[in-house]
Amino acid sequence: MAWPKRSIGGSPHELAAADLAPGSGTVRSAGVAGLGCAVPDQIVTNHDLARSVDTSHEWIVERTGIVERRIAAPHEATSDFAIAAARRALADAGLPGDDVDLVIVATVTPDHPFPAVASQVQQAVGASHAGAFDLAAGCSGFIYALAAGSQFIASGFADHVLVLGAETLSRIVDWTDRATCVLFGDGAGAVVLSPAAPGEGFLSFDLGSDGGGASLLYVDAGGSRKPATRETVDSRAHTIKMAGREVFKWAVQIQVESALSALRRAELTVDDVDCFIAHQANLRIIDAAAKRLGVAPERVIVNVDRYGNTSAASIPLALDEARQTGRLRPGDIVVTVGFGAGLSWGSAVLKWGAPVTDA
Ligand code: UT7
Repeated sequence: MAWPKRSIGGSPHELAAADLAPGSGTVRSAGVAGLGCAVPDQIVTNHDLARSVDTSHEWIVERTGIVERRIAAPHEATSDFAIAAARRALADAGLPGDDVDLVIVATVTPDHPFPAVASQVQQAVGASHAGAFDLAAGCSGFIYALAAGSQFIASGFADHVLVLGAETLSRIVDWTDRATCVLFGDGAGAVVLSPAAPGEGFLSFDLGSDGGGASLLYVDAGGSRKPATRETVDSRAHTIKMAGREVFKWAVQIQVESALSALRRAELTVDDVDCFIAHQANLRIIDAAAKRLGVAPERVIVNVDRYGNTSAASIPLALDEARQTGRLRPGDIVVTVGFGAGLSWGSAVLKWGAPVTDA
């Protein structure tokens, strides 16, 4: 199948040229001022899964790189992980909740169809003046939320934006389907976006979508087209359906195209990349994309082995891992790429650790 290359994006420089900030007349870069994550305590190993479906530890490791994943306890839900991650990110930034202007949560597994998880986070962290909304862009959600948050800072609408990816995918997995149930895990990651010095922070974004691929990865029931009935529940129509092989092929190709497009917009090349953080869906997809891009293995961050695919949470979890293991140094160029349901994709180029200016 030939996948179209429809995407949008930009850099602060391009935004300035387009004069997209009519209110303030200025365009500011956004940088990461704080980072925090939270995952459930419960670890489910491949061996655990092999006791309930026809699979094996060896098959899962060989085909996906996943060894174990975190799964929510019955009393836990997405907002629990989101709130814990948000508190850690704010503490990391040294920012009181009351200084947050906007909360954006990327998720496809909110606690409830509404209200938004973002409003629960806003209340819990004491962001009493903040606006709040959820954003659904599948596993690309965190990149979309970063791009959205950055635009609010660029335009002068907000000084500090709390951006999260948070999921409890275990609640929408068909635990009898070995082709999908071995892949997913739960967790949340949060960043505080704040104004950065010119040329620092997020240097560019690339966003795209191809709705023609919707049937490759979807949940059929539970929305307005097919509301919940006894029949939809009995037929497991509320769980994830995926054409894995097709998604795999597309994912490798689109990550390469999107990352290159974002690098071009930042006027950088693959040689400038210090750290490559792809959506953690499958080790083979990450490796293939990095190889095609020409990113050396030691620059590729991987934690899919311990968390599985956490959808919108996977990129902040990997970013946190990179920082905690000392693989992110001030001034490093980070390229991060997401892809997933929609189909949708997105990339960001970030200059890490640059000093954040006072808002
Ligand atoms: O974040 C959203 C994006 N999602 C993804 O990125 C997922 C993309 N896709 C993938 O990661 C891979 O396609 C999978 C991991 C889902 C599957 O790996 P694959 O190498 O593409 O395997 P396959 O689907 O081609 O299946 C190969 C065989 C099949 O058996 P037959 O037909 O060859 O007899 C499957 O039935 O493996 C079988 N199989 C399993 N066997 C043991 C599928 N799942 C399992 C399993 N354990 N868990």
